[in-house]
Order: sequence, then C-alpha cells, then structure tokens
Amino acid sequence: MSQAILPDKFFLREAWYMVAWPHEVSAQTPLARTVLGDDLVLFRTAAGEAVALEDRCAHRLAPLSKGRIEADGIRCMYHGVKFGAAGQCIEIPAQPQGHPNMCVRRYPLVEKDGFLWIWMGVPEKVDPTKIIDAPWAHDPRWVPSQGYLHVHAHMSLVADNLLDFGHLPFVHPNTVGAAQQADFSTQVTPLDEGVQSDRWYIDVPASRFHQSVGRFPGNVDAWHCFRWHLPAVMSLDSGSAARVGGGTLPAQGASAARHTAIRHGATAGVLRRSSMGGADGGRAADDLCNVPRGCSARPPGEARKGIHPADATLHFRGCDGTLGGGRPTIDSRET
Ligand code: FES
Ligand SMILES: [Fe+2]
Repeated sequence: MSQAILPDKFFLREAWYMVAWPHEVSAQTPLARTVLGDDLVLFRTAAGEAVALEDRCAHRLAPLSKGRIEADGIRCMYHGVKFGAAGQCIEIPAQPQGHPNMCVRRYPLVEKDGFLWIWMGVPEKVDPTKIIDAPWAHDPRWVPSQGYLHVHAHMSLVADNLLDFGHLPFVHPNTVGAAQQADFSTQVTPLDEGVQSDRWYIDVPASRFHQSVGRFPGNVDAWHCFRWHLPAVMSLDSGSAARVGGGTLPAQGASAARHTAIRHGATAGVLRRSSMGGADGGRAADDLCNVPRGCSARPPGEARKGIHPADATLHFRGCDGTLGGGRPTIDSRET
C-alpha cells in the first residue's frame, strides 16, 4: 500500500491510555515512554505516588529520564535543576529556591485494576470515572495473566483485527478458531463510546484452546464478544459452555463453562526507551496474526526499519475463570 491510511498525528488526546504496568514505575529508576508523540518520564515519589512529567527539562531541554529521582521529585543531571511531582521547579543549584514560573507539564495518572492510566488531554477535562473497569483483574476466582506487544502497524488496524472474528476459523484453527465457526455470522452494534462485535456459535465442537482447558464431553455453545471503547481500549470476552438439556446457554461463569476476558490497551506511540535497555523492551509482534504490517502512516519501504510513532503498543491483561480444570493461558496466538 503506497498511501497512509491515517496521518501520523491522528491521535485522540482527550482519553485515558494504558501507559505502563504499575510495577514498571519505581522510585529508583526513571521510566521513559513516548505516548501519542509526547516524550514522558514516569517515576514514583518517596510516598509511592506515580508521576508522569514531560521528559524535557525546562532549563536547556535535557531529558529528565536521564536524571535522578529524589524524595520530592526528579533532578535533571545536566545542571541540577529539580522538579517536584507537580512539575514545578523546586530547586536551582546556587540559588536559594526554585523559580515559580519554571515548570514542566504534568500528566494525570491513575492506578486502577492493575493498570496505570494516563490522561493525554487538557487537565480541565480529566475524569477518572471514564476509565474502563476491569474488576476481574483482582478477583481471586480468576486466573490472571498479562503481557506486552509492540505491533508494527497503526493502532486502528489492531482494533480492526480484534473486531474481525471472520478470520478465526482460518488463521487460528489450532487455538481459538474452529472450522464450524465459519457458519455463524457476526452482529455489529454501534455504541456511543465505540462498537460491539458479537459472534455466537451454537452446538459446535469447542475450539482446541477451550477444549484443552475445559475438557468438554461434547459440543458446546461458544461466543466471541469484543467491544472497542474508543480510542484505545479493547475488551474481548470469549467462552465455551457445555450444552445442557435442550441446549440452553449457561450463565457466564456457570459450571462446565470456560470463560476468558482480555482487556487490551492499545496506544499509538507508547515506546519503551531507556529503562528497558533498548528501543523496545517488549516482544515484537510482527507475527500477530494478520494485522497488515507497514501499511499505515508510514511511507513504503519504512515498514521494517524501526519503530514508527503511529505503531501500536498493547498492554493486555487477561483472566480466565472457571471451572473446567487445568491452568489456562490467554496466549491465543498460533504456536
Ligand atoms: S538542562 Fe536541566 S538543569 Fe539545565
Ligand atoms: Fe487473529
């Protein structure tokens, strides 16, 4: 494809994005991230509060991620100016106090359900109640797992792929797909905050993945349900339930059902930098099923040359509940 689908700067800023796992942000080592093209430094105060600041010293623009975390802020290691957790300058060497007009931008952060969320819009519009819940992430009845992928494609194409259940019987026949799934159609429902895609499979053999962890004695009723909360949160709910009597679907979590929930946080331009010892400390996902690589927001020939600001990063946390025996895995890629 020779033309970009979306311009590089097609970012929706008035939204919450998953920026890191809470354990990645420490009071010892600054974490550098680039989100929607903004360079950030993340760290914790001595009190444990996670902080995200613009990664650019207000003095001569040195990266604060190369600086030193101190009890009350982070010190730039170029000329020693220190910034507090609110981004204000609190100390200038050889001067009695910081400068009241010298500051770097602070980005609101919220830790919730095991994710660290960042608000990239204007501070006046920040609203933590708009963070999508994931209550299962700390429910002991569910087996948690988490991961990180860097996808060499625009984040919108990741959503396109995850919404697309039609490819499962053909690309993933040995894991989450099954040949009989091709006989069922998808219901698509527009929502105020995004779109919902549902596909139900009635009286079919379980997929190999669900069969391996559910050990169903016969056919199942199964489902893939996906909700894209625009712009960057994607929730997948899938499961298989043993058919009972006339084939009534058991409620979610009912006995003899296998149920998996995965929350994907896709964020264009979230890159791991200095603290991960390289441009991308995560697992490159060139093999992530059929996401078309290199066809978005980049010139031809650039696809394999490195990380592009519009590439997607997925922080994903999954849970598998149930009741069928065997510790499940959420890794549904072909092996
Ligand atoms: S550039 Fe940061 S103190 Fe001078
Ligand atoms: Fe796929």
